[in-house]
Amino acid sequence: MSTIVVRICLARPGDGLGVEALAGVALGIDVGMQGAAGPVATAIDQYGGRLAVPYGWAQALVACLTEAPQGADGPPPAGLAYTCPPVRLIEAYTELGSGAQQRLAQALAELELLAVAEHARGSGIGTALLSAAEDLLRRDGRHLVFAKIRLDNQKAQLWFRRRGYLLTAPGESVIFNIGEATISFDDGGDGYRLAVKSLDASRHVHRVRARTSSYLTVR
Ligand SMILES: CC(C)(COP(=O)(O)OP(=O)(O)OC[C@H]1O[C@@H](n2cnc3c(N)ncnc32)[C@H](O)[C@@H]1OP(=O)(O)O)[C@@H](O)C(=O)NCCC(=O)NCCS
Repeated sequence: MSTIVVRICLARPGDGLGVEALAGVALGIDVGMQGAAGPVATAIDQYGGRLAVPYGWAQALVACLTEAPQGADGPPPAGLAYTCPPVRLIEAYTELGSGAQQRLAQALAELELLAVAEHARGSGIGTALLSAAEDLLRRDGRHLVFAKIRLDNQKAQLWFRRRGYLLTAPGESVIFNIGEATISFDDGGDGYRLAVKSLDASRHVHRVRARTSSYLTVR
């Protein structure tokens, strides 16, 4: 019986096209493995998997199935987890001032892309990537992570639920406190739901039901 050995690490220069193809899988679009490198592939090939972005760092973790070197000469990565500060959300709170925006960026993270190549699914690679991404965010001091999942992607919604995430109902808000301010965000009404998880072991995401509405919050 053969055992698959999975290694999760930050993407390295040379992983760019593989990362881009997996980003396409996560977004449900076919970007293929050939042709000119797009901006993500170019950035990964130049800087690796830790990229400077507004309000902090984006991190691209990849899953490698063999001990063979990744990159231009090795096999493409079998999975990707890409996390970053939720830039658009932070920019929507300019009235809080740059200090509070920075604290928001330090507390919140978005799991923007998660995908495993079709041939490699069902072996625990997605779970390993998610858990490595959460560990990294926790070490960086993040308190809450969320992912946007398409409304019609019920398999992924169930998958996240089984891994401790609470999903918003369409239009339902997430209310989050950063000390001096309380912020609120939702799915944006563009065909997604949010999967939300606290990264603090002592706090959890709860659904609070009011008379005519409900929201998710951390306590
Ligand atoms: C969602 C996705 C990332 C999961 O990746 P995966 O590698 O198949 O995930 P896992 O193998 O960890 O889990 C899948 C199932 O395999 C099972 N499994 C089989 N062998 C396993 C093992 N050795 N360890 C853990 N789970 C295992 C698990 O039980 C799990 O089932 P469950 O959810 O009922 O518990 C993948 O299906 C995917 O890329 N989908 C398309 C893109 C997408 O929808 N992304 C999410 C939104 S951005």
